[in-house]
Amino acid sequence: MSGFDPSWLDLREPVDHRSLAAGPLERLTATFGGAPVSVADLGAGSGSALRALAPRLGRSQRWTLIDSDPALLAHARLRLRAWADAVEGDGETLRLNKAGATIHVAFLAEELARDHFPQAAAAADLVVASAFFDLAGEAWLAAFIERLAAAQNTLYAPLIYDGLKRFAPAHDLDQAVLVAFNDHQRSEKGLGPALGPDAARRLAELAGAQGYRATAAASPWRLGAADRSLTEALVRGMASAAAQLPAAPDALPKWQAFRLGAAAGGGAVGHVDLLLTPPGS
Ligand SMILES: C[S@@+](CC[C@H](N)C(=O)[O-])C[C@H]1O[C@@H](n2cnc3c(N)ncnc32)[C@H](O)[C@@H]1O
Repeated sequence: MSGFDPSWLDLREPVDHRSLAAGPLERLTATFGGAPVSVADLGAGSGSALRALAPRLGRSQRWTLIDSDPALLAHARLRLRAWADAVEGDGETLRLNKAGATIHVAFLAEELARDHFPQAAAAADLVVASAFFDLAGEAWLAAFIERLAAAQNTLYAPLIYDGLKRFAPAHDLDQAVLVAFNDHQRSEKGLGPALGPDAARRLAELAGAQGYRATAAASPWRLGAADRSLTEALVRGMASAAAQLPAAPDALPKWQAFRLGAAAGGGAVGHVDLLLTPPGS
């Protein structure tokens, strides 16, 4: 169990998909065109990236979903079975048909703290890691980039949290809670003290030092009244993370009560999408 609730991943999926930035996505589609492609998805969760990207890739795809949490991978199997037009397979591997594409999916329960870059990633044409790198620390990221560069893989890393959150209407404690939440984002998440809001910048720098080209663009969640459930979950998550810190604002419960009451006002959460392509590609 990684601490990522399947219901949280389900709630954010439609907002994640509509928030993906056009630039990196268009370059990704242009790079792989309609050719057969193999993809390794690191920290795949319930398979959201597959459902976002498969319609933009060719008619023959092989995906390996890699995550440390077997319960999330089980959820991914269920979600993919429901999403596909037709399914074959025993659950260990699936053969999906979706809108004319054939998509083979394998599931790998792997702790990326132990193995930064599983063989399935080295062997893939494309490595994907969505909403993942802000969990990683500097040393882990540096080692990961070395392995990525050795394999000369392309990396698509959308939805890296950039430290900005805004709610409407504003509350006096918004900034103090955000500072506490962002401090929590920099704590240990299993891959060393996490880079949190600095992760996208460091990822691009480390890859640039290996000759990689970065296509970067902002991919904020823009939340409105229809996203009220997600905003409520976001507020609860922020308050619970901020409460774990000694410097948590005393009035956190009041802030949470106000924010939950005003959740229909929505807000925004900042992210960065990165496409990193190896030298010469
Ligand atoms: C924020 S969720 C993103 C899930 C999915 N990529 C998406 O976009 O919906 C982060 C995912 O990374 C996985 N994860 C976190 N730390 C991990 C680790 N050390 N090894 C493997 N997976 C990990 C979690 O289990 C979770 O599924």
